[in-house]
Amino acid sequence: MNENMRPESMERITTPTLAETFIEEQIAEVRAQVGNKKVLLALSGGVDSSVVAALLIKAIGKQLVCVHVNHGLMRKNESENVIEVFRNQLDANLIYVDATDRFLNLLEGVADPEKKRKIIGAEFINVFAEEARKLEEVSFLAQGTIYPDILESIKQGEGKKAVKSHHNVGGLPDDLAEKFALVEPIKFLYKDEVRVVGRALGLPSEMVDRQPFPGPGLGVRCLGAITRDRLHALREADAILREEFDNCGLAKTVWQYFVSIPDIKSVGVRDDSRYEGWPAIIRAVNTKDAITATIEEIPYAVLHKITQRITSEVEGINRVLYDLTPKPTGTIEWE
Ligand code: XMP
Repeated sequence: MNENMRPESMERITTPTLAETFIEEQIAEVRAQVGNKKVLLALSGGVDSSVVAALLIKAIGKQLVCVHVNHGLMRKNESENVIEVFRNQLDANLIYVDATDRFLNLLEGVADPEKKRKIIGAEFINVFAEEARKLEEVSFLAQGTIYPDILESIKQGEGKKAVKSHHNVGGLPDDLAEKFALVEPIKFLYKDEVRVVGRALGLPSEMVDRQPFPGPGLGVRCLGAITRDRLHALREADAILREEFDNCGLAKTVWQYFVSIPDIKSVGVRDDSRYEGWPAIIRAVNTKDAITATIEEIPYAVLHKITQRITSEVEGINRVLYDLTPKPTGTIEWE
């Protein structure tokens, strides 16, 4: 049997009971695999790495070393939440690295989306590798690989052209990659199963039910060359969108929603004076697999409230637009 194919006999995990059984099996397997050695995990705070972290904390406790790299492109309060849940509530061994300046300095003046992705991906590995080198006696690297990642890489291997380059932690320098054996406890799970397992592990709903967030984060939503002031405006506007979607219940139903800010300004008025600002572009899409997507019909009252709040509360923004373009022709992200 190919060790990267989900066994046909594996039942779909849809209930807490099935999740418990899966968790017990994985705990036994992980303990048998790693013995008393240490395991390193890059913990982004996304669903997959969070579920792996919670599972491994249960299996091996402090033998797991989590590294959370804040690349400065996180949504508002995300790194703080990772620290709160994993360090404070689950008592994890968590190394927090604030690498904001490193990333933003490297990205200064870089407008090309693919170059931005490459810089963010490569620097992420640099920071993570530096932390890994500081640690002694780590023999394993845990990854939140899930089954669609495996299927996707098989497809790409067949020569399909990828629309965008996505990064993961897999690309460590050879000397480190050789040093580590992989621990991938959720590699046969689909996303819905990962969430069921996450809930059974007691992770909070904000973490388990969160929408997908690209690895390069707000880096691909602060369009063109990133500046700190526009990035700050983006983070604040995005937080207002999320708050209002929470308030009206859309957060529970819409698959992915976010703000992007292009590098253009228009004329406006604020406090009776000319006020030049950026437009905040809202995107709210529904999809099953992110290959095609439709647009959520947000009630006008909600759009008006969001517009009113963003234009009055966020420095630098003077217009709010709603992107009505389905995928295709638009991709979900703007770049
Ligand atoms: P697109 O924009 O390609 O997005 O229609 C499809 C899904 O993928 C996410 N996305 C990314 N995820 N790294 C990631 O990890 C990336 O560079 C990246 N670009 C897009 C996007 O948010 C959507 O869910």
